[in-house]
Amino acid sequence: MKDLRGQKILVSGFHAPTLGVVEAFEDAVLTLDDAGRIVGFEPDGDPTGATILPTGWLILPGFVDLHVHAPQYAQLGTALDVPLEDWLQTYTFPLEARFSDLDFAKAVYSALIDDMLALGTTTALHFATVHVPATTLLADLCLAKGQRALIGKVVMDDPDQCPPEYRDASAEDAIAGTRAVIEYINAMPGNDGMVHPVVTPRFVPSCTDACLSGLGALAQKTGTRVQSHVSESDWEHDYVRVRTGRSDAEALADFGLMVPHSVFAHGTHLSGSDMDLMIAHQAGVAHCPLSNAYFSGAVFPLRAALERGLNVGLGSDMSGGPVASIWETARMAIAASRMLESGVDAAVAPEARGRGAARIDFRTAFYLATRGGAKALGLPVGSFEPGMKFDAIAIDPKAAKGTIRLWPGYDGDLVLEKLLYSISRANIATVWVDGLRRVG
Ligand code: GUN
Ligand code: FE
Repeated sequence: MKDLRGQKILVSGFHAPTLGVVEAFEDAVLTLDDAGRIVGFEPDGDPTGATILPTGWLILPGFVDLHVHAPQYAQLGTALDVPLEDWLQTYTFPLEARFSDLDFAKAVYSALIDDMLALGTTTALHFATVHVPATTLLADLCLAKGQRALIGKVVMDDPDQCPPEYRDASAEDAIAGTRAVIEYINAMPGNDGMVHPVVTPRFVPSCTDACLSGLGALAQKTGTRVQSHVSESDWEHDYVRVRTGRSDAEALADFGLMVPHSVFAHGTHLSGSDMDLMIAHQAGVAHCPLSNAYFSGAVFPLRAALERGLNVGLGSDMSGGPVASIWETARMAIAASRMLESGVDAAVAPEARGRGAARIDFRTAFYLATRGGAKALGLPVGSFEPGMKFDAIAIDPKAAKGTIRLWPGYDGDLVLEKLLYSISRANIATVWVDGLRRVG
């Protein structure tokens, strides 16, 4: 296929512009302007002069991954059998320290971006490392390779929690480094809404109070989004309560870190009032169901959060989660919600396992993987409505090494459900970001 900026295309596929609602379209006419923005989406439009995709191909919005530790791609599928605090100290911090070496950083980051795009992830919210040069390198690579990206220099300055060989030298250093990355990304030539800076305190335990409030002030002053972890595990949740006397979400808000369209990962231990606080601040949650199975010891109450009105999208949490694919993350989100569900609500019968009405279905998972994630970030992507940028994937169900058998008699949403459970990298024929072809 080819770049589609300024073109009219005839397409069939699916999108989910709002939570729980999947729209199927067949031979719709999509029109893009010269900047890759959708200016027309007509189910029965005039196809004269339109670009036509190969027979049987279906398009979907590109996927949004709301939580990636880019350097940890080098240890994907490693040491998932130890608790979070050991995993960080023994494996993760030593790996991330190696990103002072820009050749190593370039090799890992290039492979990560290529693989994520090939899997259909067109937007990613990345944690980099503490190093400013490797963080700006990640921004350069995302722009050059065409992944829409939000990128932060990781901040960790607390000498009691972070090893001397891998931490910011001081709160002032951490804040100055964060400011330098914000300025670099905002001034990148050719960066037209593709790469955004993010203020990135790793999590409350790794940062001093002075650093957290300095970062909060910087985020507010520069209008920059924030990303961090919130109430991920018993250990982390309890640590913050003991240190600050507040819940993790309250502490983040009080440090000024809950700016609109910020995203906090996990939230497995969030209370209802924590969720309301996040909603009031227009902050969202990156739901990381695979990682939560290994490191949280709890299941994020996804459906309750959505019913409350919290913005949620999906996160791979590489490498806390061992796969790069948002397809697999979406499948796990469905499975985790089913495992959380019980016929009896624990509020009614405290001894009961699980909660009532916890399940989500493939429609909700598809929304979270696309528009849900984009909405949390406040980005104009994730569906094919006019006004959105054209970030899309073309699925070839008949791909030689990944044939998905679509039998006659199963139509509409059932096709999307089958795709969601069956798609592999082999089926992702073409990926466009901002109307430009990046894969296939
Ligand atoms: N909490 C602080 N750092 C990390 C990390 O790298 N991964 C996960 N899953 N949780 C964290
Ligand atoms: Fe994480």
